[in-house]
Amino acid sequence: MKKLLISIAAILCTIGSLQAQKFDGLAKTPPMGWNSWNTFATDINEQLVKDIADSFVKYGLKDAGYEYIVLDDGWMTKERDQNGNLVPDPKKFPNGMKALADYVHAKGLKFGLYNCAGAQTCAGYPGSRGYEYQDAQKYAEWGVDFLKYDWCNTEKLNAEGAYMTMRDALYKAGRPVVFSICEWGDNEPWEWAENIGHLWRVSGDIINCWDCEVGHGSWSSWGVWKIINMHQNIRKHAGPGHWNDLDMMEVGNGMTDAEDRSHFAMWSVMASPLILGNDLRTASKETLKTLTNKEVIAINQDELGIQGFRFTNEHNVEVWIKPLKNDEWAFVFVNMNDEPYELNFDWKKHGIGDDVNGKWLDLSANNLKVRDLFNQKDLGATDKSLKATIGVHDVLMIKLSNDSL
Ligand code: GAL
Repeated sequence: MKKLLISIAAILCTIGSLQAQKFDGLAKTPPMGWNSWNTFATDINEQLVKDIADSFVKYGLKDAGYEYIVLDDGWMTKERDQNGNLVPDPKKFPNGMKALADYVHAKGLKFGLYNCAGAQTCAGYPGSRGYEYQDAQKYAEWGVDFLKYDWCNTEKLNAEGAYMTMRDALYKAGRPVVFSICEWGDNEPWEWAENIGHLWRVSGDIINCWDCEVGHGSWSSWGVWKIINMHQNIRKHAGPGHWNDLDMMEVGNGMTDAEDRSHFAMWSVMASPLILGNDLRTASKETLKTLTNKEVIAINQDELGIQGFRFTNEHNVEVWIKPLKNDEWAFVFVNMNDEPYELNFDWKKHGIGDDVNGKWLDLSANNLKVRDLFNQKDLGATDKSLKATIGVHDVLMIKLSNDSL
């Protein structure tokens, strides 16, 4: 009898673990898309989403690899219906979510929504606590491909458990969904979320400034460099299917064009998801040029999925490095000074290695080609020092390759 019970328990455990999983094969490279929150907060509607989807096609964003269009907080009514279902706000979304998802899908793009593990979302709409399976079923019916899942009003909930419940609910509903964990890094999700979500936020909310902190009483918003500097040793947790998420970008939202370029270069070299947070309908030429730079995006999307690391910040110039496939390497030089910087970087004087991934760059034996990615220009090879003037808060982004010189 005892043996029988043990075997039954073992079978149940196996069935349980077969069901309890995230969707594999998704987000093998950092997800790319757009999210409504940074620019629109809860002021969102059907026409906006359609316009954004149209802009993806019109301005070359789709062609550059951006795929997910995600509605953040504020898409629902303040109450569930009498059957406990979430209801899209009929004023904002008169045709409901299925019709909107169909519109986005018809453009060859994917559609995402937001909810929260607590009883209410951060903006006070119905959260999923206690309704996880029902909500997941709705998302599947509507054609949702991405779920951002927040952490407000969770009281004493255990984060790992709460995110697992939603993961299992999505899996049971059967439609593949990229699951985006948004608990601001409070419970160190990089330690436990690899098999739960495809990306996890590592910080509180971003704000459109270079290096500021803006306090809101019990919480703060963080500028670009505050987020970059927030966690030093978590890069080893990033990889295909599971990414450290540095938050939706603020490119095009008020920093200088140089700062925007540096922000974009850093998100790329750190293998962060590239989720746009600006109004694409009115984006400037320069903003679109930055966001659609395919050579920079290719660094972010490199299939090894290695998150880059800080090499030095001598003279207030941040130098970051990302190993790439085929023994290629990306370098980012950001001038943090308030005046232009004359860079003179002698490749041969630096021993460069990534001990987390066992990758070494030996430039005494190899002469590699040097490519300026933002300007899409060849700059010779590593046998000569790299010389360039980098503007205030601007970036020089380089790829070293074995391509013929
Ligand atoms: C925050 C989250 C933001 C946004 C907002 C919506 O918790 O970090 O990215 O989703 O909630 O209320």
